[in-house]
Amino acid sequence: MPASVSIGLTTTEAPFIEEARSHGELYIRQPYELYSEENHEAWRKLYTRMLPRWEKYANEHFLRGINSLCLDANRVPKMEDVNRFLCPLTGFKAKAVSGYVPAFLFFDCLRNREFPTTITIRRADKLDYLPEPDIFHDIAGHVPMHTDRAFADTLVRFGECARTAANMAAEIREKKEQVRVLTSVIKAMARFFWFTVEFGLMRGRDGLKVYGSGLLSSYGEIQHCVESSDVQRYPIQLEWAINQAFEIDRYQPLLFIVDSFDHLFGLVGQLEEWMKAGKLNNVAPGEPGVDEQDLRSFLDAAR
Ligand SMILES: [Fe+2]
Repeated sequence: MPASVSIGLTTTEAPFIEEARSHGELYIRQPYELYSEENHEAWRKLYTRMLPRWEKYANEHFLRGINSLCLDANRVPKMEDVNRFLCPLTGFKAKAVSGYVPAFLFFDCLRNREFPTTITIRRADKLDYLPEPDIFHDIAGHVPMHTDRAFADTLVRFGECARTAANMAAEIREKKEQVRVLTSVIKAMARFFWFTVEFGLMRGRDGLKVYGSGLLSSYGEIQHCVESSDVQRYPIQLEWAINQAFEIDRYQPLLFIVDSFDHLFGLVGQLEEWMKAGKLNNVAPGEPGVDEQDLRSFLDAAR
């Protein structure tokens, strides 16, 4: 057995990723030969147990997306294969990254129809434990949505909002005020993204359906978010979502519902209008935090 077969690309345990990070390489290739049999087994288990839940709870755009991507239930996907099916549909491409992508760079990738994609996969014996995104979350949870024209356009609008935010921040001369305003604007954008792209619900012909990728990639929460009486579900209001803190390490107690992706697209446009009008400059404090790296990414972009 070649040595590479057993090395693996397991979340937090992959030397290939450590190496890339130590050299400061954010955008990388997907070294497909490094996936171990355990990695493929993790994908197989995750994918096959999820299929019936997608059938039941996922929105129709996602189900069509899964079909058009022709993912293999038995093997971790090759990103070039995924892109071969995805790109002709909406122009989107999955782009391999070595880890966390600072906020502006992330949104700017979306503007260019590139989706920063984690290539590692969680351990096969810890399928429910997910300390950070992995390829199952990114490729099975996010990418099928990118086959839908209206949803893909919505992601691009998020990227354009980030550009607007960077340009506006650059206009603020006083350093402390610049950081204060930018922190608030990034927080508002991150919250809106969280309550839609990651954890959104959509009204469907036969009841509520899931379109948020955090839900679509979680075996437990995809059911809980629709069925449980512990979850509050409300029609989305922009002013609420941008002021609502969230915690990432538990099932979400509060979710927002959109009517359609055209509706969502319109809301991102409204978000940008509000940004220009200064209405995102003082959002309610609380999670998520905005770190130095995120701020810097916006400030560097406007130079
Ligand atoms: Fe995500």
